Amino acid sequence: MSTPSLLILAGDGIGPEVMAEVTRIIDWYGKKRDMPFDVSEDLVGGCAYDKHGTPLHDDTMAKAQEVDAVLLGAVGGPKYDDLDFSVKPERGLLRLRKEMDLFANLRPAQCFDALADFSSLKRDIVAGLDIMIVRELTSGIYFGEPRGIFTEGNERVGVNTQRYTESEIDRVARAAFELARRRGNKVCSMEKANVMESGVLWREVVTKVHAESYPDVQLSHMYADAGAMQLCRNPKQFDVIVTDNLFGDLLSDAAAMLTGSLGMLPSASLGAPMANGRPKALYEPVHGSAPDIAGQGKANPIACILSFAMALRYSFDQGAEADRLERAVEKVLADGARTPDLMGPEGGTPLTTAQMGDAILAALDASL
Ligand code: NAD
Ligand code: IPM
Ligand code: MN
Repeated sequence: MSTPSLLILAGDGIGPEVMAEVTRIIDWYGKKRDMPFDVSEDLVGGCAYDKHGTPLHDDTMAKAQEVDAVLLGAVGGPKYDDLDFSVKPERGLLRLRKEMDLFANLRPAQCFDALADFSSLKRDIVAGLDIMIVRELTSGIYFGEPRGIFTEGNERVGVNTQRYTESEIDRVARAAFELARRRGNKVCSMEKANVMESGVLWREVVTKVHAESYPDVQLSHMYADAGAMQLCRNPKQFDVIVTDNLFGDLLSDAAAMLTGSLGMLPSASLGAPMANGRPKALYEPVHGSAPDIAGQGKANPIACILSFAMALRYSFDQGAEADRLERAVEKVLADGARTPDLMGPEGGTPLTTAQMGDAILAALDASL
């Protein structure tokens, strides 16, 4: 097979800082595991706006469509807060998701044992946690029409529309059931069927897909507000959670804190298979550009590194190498490696972003 291609879009704020560590890990796989990648780099978000006046140039969009996988850092920052909505950094990311049709956003939340005391919840509630949130990513209120700020009489009205077709629900439900079969075999679907018609349809379609194609998987339904409460009360009751775009955004940030830090959570955004059998795919940490710590060497690169592990698993069929990288991360955490976001009340000297990268590379070397 030809050398797999990767497009790196490091983006803004801490994006380039955490991506620099991923680049070293990609190089390591080329040199030490004989797994070279054909890597190209381009701009997305505020940095693309600064250069081109748009957060995603058409040429970059075209490249993203061609490569085997895209790795993205983060976009956004206060400098761009007052820009018109149509050219905000976040629009670049939303365009990638929409035009690549990356409908299934996999957001795993795993609590590494070494970090169980860093969660805002008690150790026994989170230790051993391993859940997967499957967030619908290309529809719902993020994209529904009509949308905009309109004038009605003598005041303005802000409008967004929650909209889901049966086929959009069907395909993300299938993705969740397929994943569940390879994990704990349980799916909990979350919506608000008690107040939203889109939630009623969501529940109906998920129930139908389950009955027709996945009766062996255990399915439950929960209203998303109650789901948020249960995620804090007893998160280990869940295996796979499937939910819409907006609820998935909120629930995955909440799940991040179960693991100790937003700097720990990776994600994979997957679409339909391409001609070569690989899914269209973009991998990115769940966190944003963290303007409060950007440029200070304080960012935790683990979410971005674990996103590359997801790429190894879901795009390149290298599950054993993904395990190797995840074990290297686990090992450095067990040995006490901590960026500032992972410092507990007992203190100590935190590592810089690059030192955390060094530690993970050393653990990878030791794994050979
Ligand atoms: P954020 O995720 O950037 O930061 C929230 C908090 O978590 C901050 O205190 C930050 O320092 C901390 N944090 C985040 N990642 C970290 C890491 N790797 N290591 C250590 N600490 C980390 O969210 P925000 O502050 O709400 O948003 C900032 C900007 O990022 C906004 O412009 C927002 O739109 C954008 N954003 C982008 C993405 C993305 O690119 N996928 C995701 C979320 C937010
Ligand atoms: C995320 C982010 C994005 C979202 C923004 C930056 C568009 O919060 O990836 O979770 O809302 O989906
Ligand atoms: Mn988010």
